[in-house]
Formats: sequence, structure tokens, C-alpha cells
Amino acid sequence: MKNIVTVFLILLISHHGSCAKILGVFTSPGRSHYILGSTLMKALAEKGHDVTLISSFGEKKPPKTKGTYRDIVVTEIMKKMNELIAGGQVNMFEHAKMSPLPAAAFLARMMPRIMEPGLGNKEVQKLIHSNEKFDVVIVEQFMNDAEKALSTHFGAPLIVVSSMWANYWLNKIVGNPAPPSYIPMVTTDYSVPMTFCERLLNSLLYVVTEVFFNLFVYSVENDIIKKNIPNGPELSDVLYNASLVLMNSHPSIHQPVPYVPNMIEVGGFHVSPPKKLPQDLQEFLDNAKDGVIYFSMGSNLKSADFPPEKRDAILRTFSKLKEQVLWKWEEDVLPGQPDNVKLSKWLPQQSILAHPNVKLFITHGGLLSTTETIYHGVPILAIPVFGDQKLNAKSAMNNGFGLVLPYNEITEESFTQLIQEILNNSKYRNNAKKRSEIFHDRQVSPMETAIYWIEYVIRYKGAPHLRVAALDLPWYQYYLLDVLGFLILVNSVIGCIFYYSIRAVCRKICKKRKTKKLKQT
Ligand SMILES: *[C@@H]1O[C@H](CO)[C@@H](O)[C@H](O)[C@H]1NC(C)=O
Ligand SMILES: *[C@@H]1O[C@H](CO)[C@@H](O)[C@H](O)[C@H]1NC(C)=O
Repeated sequence: MKNIVTVFLILLISHHGSCAKILGVFTSPGRSHYILGSTLMKALAEKGHDVTLISSFGEKKPPKTKGTYRDIVVTEIMKKMNELIAGGQVNMFEHAKMSPLPAAAFLARMMPRIMEPGLGNKEVQKLIHSNEKFDVVIVEQFMNDAEKALSTHFGAPLIVVSSMWANYWLNKIVGNPAPPSYIPMVTTDYSVPMTFCERLLNSLLYVVTEVFFNLFVYSVENDIIKKNIPNGPELSDVLYNASLVLMNSHPSIHQPVPYVPNMIEVGGFHVSPPKKLPQDLQEFLDNAKDGVIYFSMGSNLKSADFPPEKRDAILRTFSKLKEQVLWKWEEDVLPGQPDNVKLSKWLPQQSILAHPNVKLFITHGGLLSTTETIYHGVPILAIPVFGDQKLNAKSAMNNGFGLVLPYNEITEESFTQLIQEILNNSKYRNNAKKRSEIFHDRQVSPMETAIYWIEYVIRYKGAPHLRVAALDLPWYQYYLLDVLGFLILVNSVIGCIFYYSIRAVCRKICKKRKTKKLKQT
């Protein structure tokens, strides 16, 4: 009996030991960001952890999981964003026309303003002023550096999750080497190898962004911390204190780049095996003997925002095709809707892409859409608009499984030609299948990888042994400018000594010759 009790107690303790309290902060107003965050947090709760997620969305029904799952919904950020959109300060489609530098400046200027109200939310403040403790705080990197201070406040290690690959904001916080010679900035659409001009602009973009953040962004973020968190830390103390960075990237999706040991790729962790389709969709897809084109511009861009001339060009193109078209269209009616076009306000994208009759995905090239299309091996025609979409689209083109149609160049001719090219040429489909194979060829699934590393950071209390020493160096030491300066100095000194010695010797010889000559005359 005593033995049974002991065993029971050990089980209880070991169970308790493996269950952690985890705070997730995914407050970005973009639904795709929320999908990444909530999928990760649900998986952690399913594993038995007690999870709290601060976000702009929240679940309609609380998910049934092994551990507890608590939502804290912040409505202020979405409201702020809608205000800015209504005020004409943010227009998603206008973004397509921006060049890399203004786009970077726009993001840096707008994002802290949009994200600011998050920490001030009543429920978040309640949590901050409660005595709750967490074992780890997971914050999404989306120009919301102030939220990282929650990790200091709750005395927990900080994990940063990125919806993208190793970009500028991630590399700098963990000291990851990212030479601008071959790693393009997020807001560009450069691909490797870059031309001289691209490398020049890319380098300038790195420098300007760095200066811009130091001058304008960090002070704002610092103020947000001081305003919302009692005894909040200095931003500079939290910013470089991430124990782990999880990235939504993978060599099947992005170019391979170097990573320091606490940067882990978990690209595609949000994708789940296809679910059963609604009856009408299943029938539509099954019966399309000439194949289906799936068209969706994601969750932020509304297809209904297409200006009329572009919409007409799209409709005229579709009406000429023998394929069926499934279009995510957010309004009730589409004037001039062709017979082969089916509309729906909401579509189960992953399950649709899994259907063998889907021949082409016309997309804005958002990262989740790109990842899902690679998972299922469907070629794309990308119409990128903002953020990382141009880079994703370019990458699809370089990897041979897609083509790019710049938003400003949508006409009936260009649209028809690109669609025909992808449908006629089997190269695109084959390359998409190959990418899909690379995507799936991993030791363990990306979600298992993510959970393993999060638990690892909890086990090792922040895992400081993974942190590279680059983070403790001032920039002139990191770039070896002091060493370079020293070498130049030593070289100059040796050069001088050499020069003066030679000169002295020469003079002596000349003098001797002169005195000889004088004596002879
Ligand atoms: C930085 O992280 C370590 C490890 O999690 C933690 O002990 C320390 O308090 C953190 N510092 C700040 C300022 O958050
Ligand atoms: C693709 O095939 C269609 C029909 O088979 C044809 O009309 C069209 O010209 C072809 N387009 C290209 C770009 O090859």
C-alpha cells in the first residue's frame, strides 16, 4: 500500500513537473498571425500545459485540451488599425506601389502606433497586476518589442516566434550573422545572387532601418513599457534577451541561411492534415473534370477592394477558361459572375489545396498561403501586395513552381497569359511536387520541433548556454573595427620606420659620395 502511494505521489509530482504555465502574446491584427499563435498555443495546451493567449481574435468556443486554455482578447489594436484605414493612413492595396525604403519606414512608423494599445487593455492590465507567474512568455515578433517586457515582469524566459524567416528584426536580437551581400531585406523583392545595385540598396536599407529604429521606434517602445508595466525594464535589456527564436520558415520555402543555435525553423507547423470538406464544395471539386483554379487574396485584402477595371479584367479572363474557378469573394453578389466561377465568403483553404483537382492557386503570396501550397504541391500565380509577399512570390518563381503578376500590371492579357502558361506547362506542377517532398522530408514534424524547444527553454531556465557571445560585443568590436584600426596603425608605424630608415641610409650614402667628390676636386 505504501508503495502504491509513493508511486502515485511520484507520478503526481512528475506530471506536475512537466506541466508549465505558458503566456502567449500574439496581438497582431492580422488573422494569419493569430492562426500561427493559436495553433501553437492549442498544441501546447493539448500537451498538458496551462496556456494563456493574449490576442486580437480569440476562439469562439474554448478548445477542449488536456491543459487549460485561456483567451485574453484585446480589441483595441484592431480598432486602432481600422481607424487608420478609415482615416486613409493605411491602404493595403496602395502598398503595392511602395518601394522598399518607404515601405520599411511605413511599417516602422505605423506598427508601434497600431500595437500600442495592446498592453493598456483592461484584462491585460489585470494580469500584469495579478500575482500570477509564468514559466515562459512567448511573444510574436511583429514590431511590438514593448510586449517582450512581459517576460521580465513575470520573471520568465522570453521566446520569440516569427511568422517569417530569419529577417532583420530576428537576426539582430540573437546576434545571427546576416550579410546584406546575400540576405535581402524583408521589404525588397530581391533574390540571390543580387546585382551590384541590389546589394548597394540592400546594404543601405540595412543601415537606414537600423538608424530609423534607433531614432524613432525604440524610444516609442520604451515609453510604452514605462507607461504600462510597473517597474518595467529598459527596452534594451529585454530586446536582446530572447532565449529562443522560432521561425515559420524551412529550406523548402526560403533560401537557406545561417542560424545561431537558438534559432529554430518550424515552418509549416500550423498546417494540419486535410479535413472533410462541406458537401457542396466536395461536389464542386469532384465534378470539375477540367480542374479547378482556387483564387484567394488572403484574410486582410478583400477581393471586393479590387478597383472595377481590374475586377473586370479578372472576370473576362475567368469566363474564357474551361477550368472551374473557386473565388474567395467577401460580398453577396459579383456583377457579371461567369458560369464557371463559384463564390464563397469563407473557404477551408488547406482542405481545398489538398484536393487533386486543384490545378492552380492564385494568391497574394502571403507566407501561410505559400506554405500551405508547398505542403500540398500546388503551383501558384502570385499577386503580391505588401510586406513579405513580394519576396515569397519571387521565391516561388525562382524555385519554378509559380509566376508573379505585379498588382499594378493586372490586365486581361497578362492575367490570361500567365494562367495559361502555368496550366499548360507541367514544369510548374512538377516543381511544386518536388518542393512538397522537401517540405515533408523531416526527422520530426515542425510542431513537435516547436514544442520540444519550448519545453527545452523551460527545462533549462532560459537556456543561456545557447546564447552567442556576439550579443555582448559593442558593434565596433563585432565588426572588428578596433582590430582593423590596430592593424592599420601597426602597418603605418612599420611603414614609417621603414621609410625613415631608408631615407636616413640614403642620405648617409649621398653625403659620403659628396664628401668624396669634394675631396677629389
Ligand atoms: C533575461 O533572461 C534571463 C533568462 O530567462 C532572465 O533571468 C533575466 O531576468 C532576463 N532579463 C530581463 C531584463 O528580462
Ligand atoms: C495553352 O493551351 C491553350 C489550350 O490548349 C491554348 O489556347 C493557349 O494558347 C496555350 N497557352 C500558352 C501560353 O501556351
